[in-house]
Amino acid sequence: MKKNGLIIAIDGPAAVGKSTMGKLIARELDFLYIDTGAIYRAITWKVLKNNINVSDENIISNLVSDTCITIEKVDCKSLNDYCHIFVDGEDITEEIRNPKIDQNVSQIARLPKIRKQLIYLQRKLAEKGNIVMEGRDIGSVILPQSDIKFYFTASEEERIKRRYKELIDKGYSIDYEEVKKQIIQRDKIDSKRKSAPLIKAKDAILIDSTEKSIEEVKDNILKIIKKYRECREKTN
Ligand code: DC
Repeated sequence: MKKNGLIIAIDGPAAVGKSTMGKLIARELDFLYIDTGAIYRAITWKVLKNNINVSDENIISNLVSDTCITIEKVDCKSLNDYCHIFVDGEDITEEIRNPKIDQNVSQIARLPKIRKQLIYLQRKLAEKGNIVMEGRDIGSVILPQSDIKFYFTASEEERIKRRYKELIDKGYSIDYEEVKKQIIQRDKIDSKRKSAPLIKAKDAILIDSTEKSIEEVKDNILKIIKKYRECREKTN
């Protein structure tokens, strides 16, 4: 896979800035950007729409088999409109950011059968290379052969503040304490589950963005990628 282009993996907990940074880096490098959390959110959207119990693994597994998920690059100039996600042809990019999805998505993402089913789709999306893929298990499980792995972190307080601001800016009326509860709960489920929990891959580079601006983090990451490319050219 490496021969086809660079693969950059970004993992980390909720609201740590993976999506913003992933899109900025992909735009800068003219790479494809894949937010794998959006895939779990899309399944959650369909599960809730069909009033299926979020812990019913077998029914959800059948639903996943019957679902067509596609991701399309739409407008690289706008970070909000960078990529759209479609479920069975329906554009649900906005819907999957609803707090109701936040409340339920980790319950579905912890189901081993569902994770197994979604591995193929994620690997297929990365096949051509020149990709930035972000999630919870990209460097550890989905694409362990990634050229560069980043693991993002930021203090819990900072992440809660960021997610709260993001939801308020989008027009949701939500309580700060509710956002706090959801993020803490989601991180707990994501990192304690048996199947592909959130972990820092041994060879991942740790990026702590707590007291750093977006520009600072972006410049740092681009420098690391540039160095990697230069080394790779020299050895090839
Ligand atoms: O990154 P996000 O908040 O949009 O992700 C939504 C949920 O999906 C998150 O709580 C955990 C799950 N997820 C996962 O288990 N594995 C991934 N590779 C990406 C997301």
